[in-house]
Amino acid sequence: MTKRAVLAYSGGLDTSVAVTWMQERYGCEVVACAVDVGQDGADGDTLRQRALAAGAIDVVVIDAKAELARDYLVPALKANALYEGRYPLVSALSRPVIVKHMVAAARQFGADAVAHGCTGKGNDQVRFEVSTRALAPDLEILAPAREWGMTREDAIHYAYDKGIPITATKEKVYSIDDNLWGRAIECGEMEDPWAVPPPGVWSMTKPTATEPRDVVVRFEQGVPVAIDDVDLELVDLITTINEVVGSYGWGRIDMVENRRVGIKSRETYECPGSLALIMAHADLESITLERDLAREKARLEPRYAELIYDGLWFSPLKEALDAFVESSQRHVSGEVRLHLEPGSCRVTGRRSPHSLYDYGLATYDSADVFRHEDSAGFVRLWGLGIETWSQRQGPGSEHQ
Ligand code: ARG
Repeated sequence: MTKRAVLAYSGGLDTSVAVTWMQERYGCEVVACAVDVGQDGADGDTLRQRALAAGAIDVVVIDAKAELARDYLVPALKANALYEGRYPLVSALSRPVIVKHMVAAARQFGADAVAHGCTGKGNDQVRFEVSTRALAPDLEILAPAREWGMTREDAIHYAYDKGIPITATKEKVYSIDDNLWGRAIECGEMEDPWAVPPPGVWSMTKPTATEPRDVVVRFEQGVPVAIDDVDLELVDLITTINEVVGSYGWGRIDMVENRRVGIKSRETYECPGSLALIMAHADLESITLERDLAREKARLEPRYAELIYDGLWFSPLKEALDAFVESSQRHVSGEVRLHLEPGSCRVTGRRSPHSLYDYGLATYDSADVFRHEDSAGFVRLWGLGIETWSQRQGPGSEHQ
């Protein structure tokens, strides 16, 4: 029997209902743990009041923005991590840091369980639970929303019956999850993959800017450190790039993705900052990474993204890949210029003190230092095997 559980608390309908429901169903005390990862509406006082009103015995509110940025978003950026080539792993990156703080709260409050408000159909339950088992295999894991069998409407009625303060209304049909790295919007009419997302779902990428402009991002060893020559702390830098790029209405993703539990789901995201940073970072690597290193890294990047998506942030393979990625970043320092226009963001220049781009080798003008005479022998040997094949077995054999 669970005596005390630490619940990952968002202040939304499901987790507020969960506080009361867990006490009734499991007879356990509930400590609410709210982790600020840069989401909308994470005001600590409001969260505290709501959780207490729902019956929590205590509430912990943790500002994990800097930690999320430094220990989770930056490693993902260094790996250019995009799930299925497109999604920068917004929700997937926040769950491990939330779990870290839940486990710490469980120790602090002597709890024997942690709990989350995820349903049985999504990826977030996988991330919460696998991360918990990696960090604290002794803790029990409770998933009330997977057991209670309530519809959204039932949950609203339950909240009214029990006097749980909520702000949810029946019109709020979307499931939204956001943090510094972007925002995911699911459900409602978008469950039809052919349906155009209603304009009202977007908030980080509302187009307001009209004048084209450039933004220069400076990186040091793979880490973004300055925008337009102004040094910024990571959280400020990410917030700034989100605002600037988002104001051009750029950074939306509309895709059908493969969930870990075997469901294809239509997802819309807005990730202006993360997509722009990944684009800039990958571009800087094009001049700072030696060819074989760049190619091997590109081969490993999708695997890295899959591990994060699938809840394996805390795993030995992820740790080993981190070491590879970290070692690859030694010379990834320099600047990338992004050009913004309404609806577009693209790279228009890159430079680095460690650049492997050699003007003397690349140019076609008089500064050319390339040894043209070396090419004849090189190309002859490069094609030797193919020539032999052609003469003995291929098209050339008919003329022998
Ligand atoms: N499909 C995305 C993912 O698995 C987004 C999940 C959003 N979570 C949510 N509770 N609305 O990472």
